[in-house]
Amino acid sequence: MDFIFKVIVFHTLALIVLISVEPVVCHRHGNKWVGRKRSITSEKNGDLVADLAGQPDVSFKHYAGYVTVNETNGRALFYWFYEATALADEKPLVLWLNGGPGCSSVGYGATQEIGPFIVDTNGNGLKYNPYSWNTKANMLFLESPIGVGFSYSNTTSDYNDLGDDFTANDAYIFLHKWFLKFPSYRTRTFFIAGESYAGKYAPELAELIHDKNVDPSLHINLQGVLLGNPETSDAEDWRGLVDYAWSHAVISDETHRIIRESCDFNGNDTWSNNNCSEAVEEVLKQYKEIDIYSLYTSTCIGNSAESEDRSMQVMMKRTSNMMPRIMGGYDPCLDDYAKKFYNRLDVQKALHVSDGHHLKNWTICNMKIFNEWSDSKKSVLPIYKKLIAAGLRMWVYSGDTDGRVPVLSTRYSLSTLGLPITKAWRPWYHQKEVSGWFQEYVGLMFATFRGAGHSVPCFKPSNSLAFFAAFLLGESPPTARQIT
Ligand SMILES: *[C@@H]1O[C@H](CO)[C@@H](O)[C@H](O)[C@H]1NC(C)=O
Ligand SMILES: *[C@@H]1O[C@H](CO)[C@@H](O)[C@H](O)[C@H]1NC(C)=O
Ligand SMILES: *[C@@H]1O[C@H](CO)[C@@H](O)[C@H](O)[C@H]1NC(C)=O
Ligand SMILES: *[C@@H]1O[C@H](CO)[C@@H](O)[C@H](O)[C@H]1NC(C)=O
Ligand SMILES: *[C@@H]1O[C@H](CO)[C@@H](O)[C@H](O)[C@H]1NC(C)=O
Repeated sequence: MDFIFKVIVFHTLALIVLISVEPVVCHRHGNKWVGRKRSITSEKNGDLVADLAGQPDVSFKHYAGYVTVNETNGRALFYWFYEATALADEKPLVLWLNGGPGCSSVGYGATQEIGPFIVDTNGNGLKYNPYSWNTKANMLFLESPIGVGFSYSNTTSDYNDLGDDFTANDAYIFLHKWFLKFPSYRTRTFFIAGESYAGKYAPELAELIHDKNVDPSLHINLQGVLLGNPETSDAEDWRGLVDYAWSHAVISDETHRIIRESCDFNGNDTWSNNNCSEAVEEVLKQYKEIDIYSLYTSTCIGNSAESEDRSMQVMMKRTSNMMPRIMGGYDPCLDDYAKKFYNRLDVQKALHVSDGHHLKNWTICNMKIFNEWSDSKKSVLPIYKKLIAAGLRMWVYSGDTDGRVPVLSTRYSLSTLGLPITKAWRPWYHQKEVSGWFQEYVGLMFATFRGAGHSVPCFKPSNSLAFFAAFLLGESPPTARQIT
């Protein structure tokens, strides 16, 4: 497992951004749209993936391609959709999003975490993932926003507008246009799931859907949101990050004390306090030595000069009032395989992103997007309240060995909601083992995954699938050992 931090200090001092992506463990082992329905339906078949290099034989269909979200400016988002392995017509539709911002849901979610085909370490093919979430639901992976993976805009200035709102708006339009291609999913039970920075994307998109649903012609059958190690509220996330580093013996008592005394994570100019900035830099410096996304697994020490920079990436960037950000989930060793695979001409042709002659440049995370992201909601907790009040199923899980969005950050965030507890803290089981603990509140469920890092399904694929199945049913995970 590993990944890399490299420190880049930009000229001015004020914003720290630490970059992540996903662990190696995985590897190892409106109305206006409705009118055009008929003509677009036929495009679905054009998106059928028929000859993907090295793909294992499967009985379900999968589709990939572009959906134009803005014709004027020429914006198109890339998706990959896997029908459920059986009884697809009876199963819900789940949209999966990875974060960054700027990272690919195809490169991470689909091919390293929960999709049916996992990129093999030789970079030449795919292997079947028996724990794929499409055994329980129809899974839709979206590369969002423009600039991520294969998604693009023909209008350069669009890239200056990227941010949370822009992303939610384009994803919303994407859904409606996608339903035109796949009309049988138009009224299907729908869930949004994601991890890391998608902790912001998913509730934001859910809120937009909820608001637009007042118009019956735009109604989307959204039933819930599932979030893993989600960025939620900057102040709570930071407090949790430093407290977790201290409580897990990554930093000293002294460093922790300085942070407690000098960092006002709720303020607007947290990083102008040098004592605070320097102490937080010390936290990042220590994390640079290990894998912040998975504290107790080994890091991938690169053995060749072939790949760029194999040290953990920390971006120190200083702007006036933005909170430092740390990107979600990053493993350069693993990412290289995905990069190799998705930059093959035959693969791009099979996925309908290339005509077979012109190669597109695919990267797992777009660093420019990450660095220049300016519209970021400080907290999505007000959106949680709204979605809970609307009766949506809100489930939040946390791999408890992640230092990036640690379990403490999530607990601090959730505790500010002050929700009444309906089922007290208790273990949940997967087969014979305690898989983690959970607590249920009015309108929300929180669960931990014992011994899992930032991208939980990478570490606990079988447990994750069982948990996902419980989420879809809206039933608590097993509270007793399953002895067979
Ligand atoms: C297309 O995008 C531009 C820039 O984001 C926006 O101003 C315009 O309203 C969009 N067009 C449509 C039809 O949504
Ligand atoms: C972007 O421009 C290319 C080249 O002109 C064109 O083929 C493509 O359809 C455009 N994309 C969109 C979404 O309009
Ligand atoms: C931070 O800035 C926002 C918007 O500019 C303002 O409403 C808020 O009062 C400020 N908070 C503090 C603690 O200064
Ligand atoms: C920073 O720490 C030093 C040494 O403890 C202290 O003298 C100084 O007052 C602190 N500065 C701020 C702004 O808290
Ligand atoms: C592909 O994109 C990356 C990131 O934007 C860039 O560093 C690299 O030079 C590009 N490669 C090619 C062949 O254009």
